[in-house]
Amino acid sequence: GRVIFSGIQPTGVPHLGNYLGALSNWVKLQRTAKPEDELLFSIVGWHALTLPQNPDTLAASRRDMLATLLAIGLDPKRSILFHQDHNPAHTEFAWILSCITPIGKLRRMTTWKARVAASRNANDESEVDETLLNAGLFTYPVLQAADILIYKATHVPVGEDQTQHLELCRDLAYTFNRTFAADEPLFPVPSQLNTPSRRILSLRDPTSKMSKSSPDLQSRILLTDTFPEIKSKLRAAVTDSVLGITYDPLMRPGTSNLLTILAACTDEDVHHVARRYEGKGHGHLKTDVAEAVEEMIKGPRTEFERIRQETEFLEEVAKEGGEKARERSEATMREVRERLGLRDAS
Ligand code: TYM
Repeated sequence: GRVIFSGIQPTGVPHLGNYLGALSNWVKLQRTAKPEDELLFSIVGWHALTLPQNPDTLAASRRDMLATLLAIGLDPKRSILFHQDHNPAHTEFAWILSCITPIGKLRRMTTWKARVAASRNANDESEVDETLLNAGLFTYPVLQAADILIYKATHVPVGEDQTQHLELCRDLAYTFNRTFAADEPLFPVPSQLNTPSRRILSLRDPTSKMSKSSPDLQSRILLTDTFPEIKSKLRAAVTDSVLGITYDPLMRPGTSNLLTILAACTDEDVHHVARRYEGKGHGHLKTDVAEAVEEMIKGPRTEFERIRQETEFLEEVAKEGGEKARERSEATMREVRERLGLRDAS
């Protein structure tokens, strides 16, 4: 069977990019999985620490993210839902993997390069200055590889922005197998599962992805947004002044992004959707997108508001998920330690 693993950072309520790019696919995979397939979905608190977090906000976000996963339809009886930080083996394994990770590969990560570029602008220096950035931002992809490999995952459903991290993960699986398990590979080399709408763009700046970290609240639609909020954000969405609607991601990123969202909500081909709007205006398209988004998220939104109140239930789900995850990774870690020579003296 397949082992499906994915993770999401607990940094606030997920936005439409997270939902269409990843979460909706998790639910779909759970629904279509064969009985012998295993599914694990993790809330990756350690990854969130790479940026400054307010402890109380982080605590609330962790709980809310678990409530979200349940609200969208993930079933803790079928999938292992757990907090990454409930399984310390991830960090043990991340350390081991970091010892076979070339620094050069981490330096080439676009997420790292973006951080370096941002810090350079902030200090107005022409020289790249990495010395002020924390090491976690740099080694974060190694921890991500550990998350995946420790469960011997075969499939990882993520958005397009995670492709480079997945490549590193595959590299590390190869390297570990070659170096320590040449006779019998220990790790399957996992493949990336993309959703059709892999990349949802910012509503305000359609040249960049919709992201949790943008200061412009109008740039993203949250899974908890009300219908009036959804409508107002879409009305303010940046498009273009070309007459009529066409799907042209290169020349018309804003318009195309709206079509992508609509097609994803209604589960249609984006070109079909585009043809339907050929002679129509942006106003018309935006109204229909708002209605389609509302239709899609109103169920999860109501569920979320209900489940987030059920503190005891959430704690129970988290506790059970953590136990299952630890159990599930222990066999792998025993093999890893054995191969490395980290054996008991007795
Ligand atoms: P994170 O928390 O930033 O995002 C969670 C998921 O949402 C997808 N996503 C998007 N997809 C389409 N369009 C967008 N605008 C958009 N924004 C986000 C992401 O691709 C991701 O699938 N490093 C990961 C978390 C992680 C992980 C893992 C994932 C840690 N360990 C192991 C998979 C396997 C991250 O920061 O995702």
